[in-house]
Amino acid sequence: MSAVSKDAKRMTTHVLQKMKQKGEKISMLTAYDYSMAGIIDGAGIDVILVGDSASNVMAGHETTLPITLDQMIYHASSVIRAVKKSLVVVDLPFGHYQSNSDIALSSAIRIMKESGAHSVKLEGGEDIADSIKRIVAAGVPVMGHLGLTPQSIYKFGTYTVRAKEEEEAAQLLKDAKLLEELGCFAIVLEKIPAKLATKVTQSISIPTIGIGAGNGTDGQVLVSHDLFGITKDFSPRFLRRYLDLHNDMTAAVQSYIKDVKSTDFPNEKEQY
Ligand code: KIV
Repeated sequence: MSAVSKDAKRMTTHVLQKMKQKGEKISMLTAYDYSMAGIIDGAGIDVILVGDSASNVMAGHETTLPITLDQMIYHASSVIRAVKKSLVVVDLPFGHYQSNSDIALSSAIRIMKESGAHSVKLEGGEDIADSIKRIVAAGVPVMGHLGLTPQSIYKFGTYTVRAKEEEEAAQLLKDAKLLEELGCFAIVLEKIPAKLATKVTQSISIPTIGIGAGNGTDGQVLVSHDLFGITKDFSPRFLRRYLDLHNDMTAAVQSYIKDVKSTDFPNEKEQY
């Protein structure tokens, strides 16, 4: 019997589909390491995304483009070791599916085999249809990603809202229907008008997960470092911060420095 069928409570793509049908919202957050993934999974999140946003928040790059497949596999396998219930989705990094569906398939297979993750995410619509088709045909669940697709930042030029104009909105709706046809199990809709996200959500049978796409999607995703307030200089309108860890952690480090310098730490109870 497989590990998947032994654990009846693990989130699956089929459960996500049922959640859409019942109108039950889907929660998704990013995680890139064992400790954070353990907290997020233990709190009951439905889906964990090992996002290529690791390139920004873990490695300090300006864009998501530099992160490598080996680095994504490292992050994903750390997350997988902590996760008991959530469905884990891993971003295929830039350069691993845009040009060649053979590379796309072998990259997706490497992620699944070497990290133990449950699915992969790819950015784009009809341009990457061949890659999606082949990955799905190999039995790997695929999440799509439309709207603001950060791997194409140098094509867009800015991180502003996408698909405000009719032509781009119509293409996005067409792409969403195509992703459904190709067998994607869900689609991330990033930074598009709420009205369009609602229309897309109502036009397809697979769940949509929004980020900066309003409340009409089937679920929401945020980068966990933003939600926890670890990142400080990123404040888009769509972001709700639930903690101010940047300030709290700074204060904790300053208290530690003070205690070390004043010889208050360690005290008698804190030594052997
Ligand atoms: O990489 C990432 O964190 C993402 C989310 C913003 C959806 O793709």
